[in-house]
Amino acid sequence: MTELLKDKIAIVTGGAKGLGRAVATSLDAAGATVVVTDSDGDGAQAVAAELVHGEGATCDVRDDDQVEELLGWVTQRHGSVDIMVANAGIATVAPITEMPVEEWRSVLAVNLDGVYSSVRHAGRSMAGNGGGAIITMASITGFSGSPLISHYAAAKAGVISLTRTAAVEWRDHGVRVNAICPGWIGTDLVYDRVPQFEGALGIDFDALITQKQGRLGTVDDVTPLAVFLASERSRFCSGSTFVVDGGMDAALV
Ligand SMILES: NC(=O)c1ccc[n+]([C@@H]2O[C@H](COP(=O)([O-])OP(=O)(O)OC[C@H]3O[C@@H](n4cnc5c(N)ncnc54)[C@H](O)[C@@H]3O)[C@@H](O)[C@H]2O)c1
Repeated sequence: MTELLKDKIAIVTGGAKGLGRAVATSLDAAGATVVVTDSDGDGAQAVAAELVHGEGATCDVRDDDQVEELLGWVTQRHGSVDIMVANAGIATVAPITEMPVEEWRSVLAVNLDGVYSSVRHAGRSMAGNGGGAIITMASITGFSGSPLISHYAAAKAGVISLTRTAAVEWRDHGVRVNAICPGWIGTDLVYDRVPQFEGALGIDFDALITQKQGRLGTVDDVTPLAVFLASERSRFCSGSTFVVDGGMDAALV
């Protein structure tokens, strides 16, 4: 396993914690050099310091110039970027009519515009450098509506669409682009919002998760797929969406 991504250079956005941190750790364990980036630069550095071949960098994906500079910096240091995991994401909780437009835009700025910047600068670099693998962190909310997170779900639907188009545009340049669509995974993104969901919807979160997914997912349920999509083992996969949700999306009830 440590040889699978040997000599590969990877960038993970939003890598300071949660899914990004776990994916960075798994790519590192598979032999890649991983540039862990986050708007929380100290957090990114701390995760990088835990890796065998890790480097940390501050990058706020809302700023297209910062993402472009990041790609330039990594390419200059390592000669190429082989893997981009466009993972950074945020969420807030509010019904459509009560959500200030600034809140809508702030989530789209990270979850859609930030992915666009990450994908486009990585794709440009890879297309001119023999190819690579881009992974976007979408969500099953990109397929189905979800109350109180209209902005988040709309952004994820956009990420899935962007993933497909990017895959088509770069097919002849050896750049594969695939989306991971997790269900509910136990990270701060979820834990911090459970009280709001329970209060607004009058639900018991644990009961909902048990009914829909069997259990709450863990980051380790997602990381093997990320390593697969980053590696040559997925060489004939591009423009695809890969659901990791314990069967939630497949179930009517
Ligand atoms: N946890 C889940 O259930 C779940 C399900 C589906 C999809 N996802 C997606 O997975 C990704 C990671 O989510 P998570 O659960 O690990 O969340 P998290 O809150 O644990 O971690 C998110 C990370 O992104 C960083 N970040 C936030 N804004 C940023 C910005 N502008 N630029 C760079 N970094 C930024 C944060 O600092 C943090 O380190 C997100 O895109 C999220 O939408 C999560």
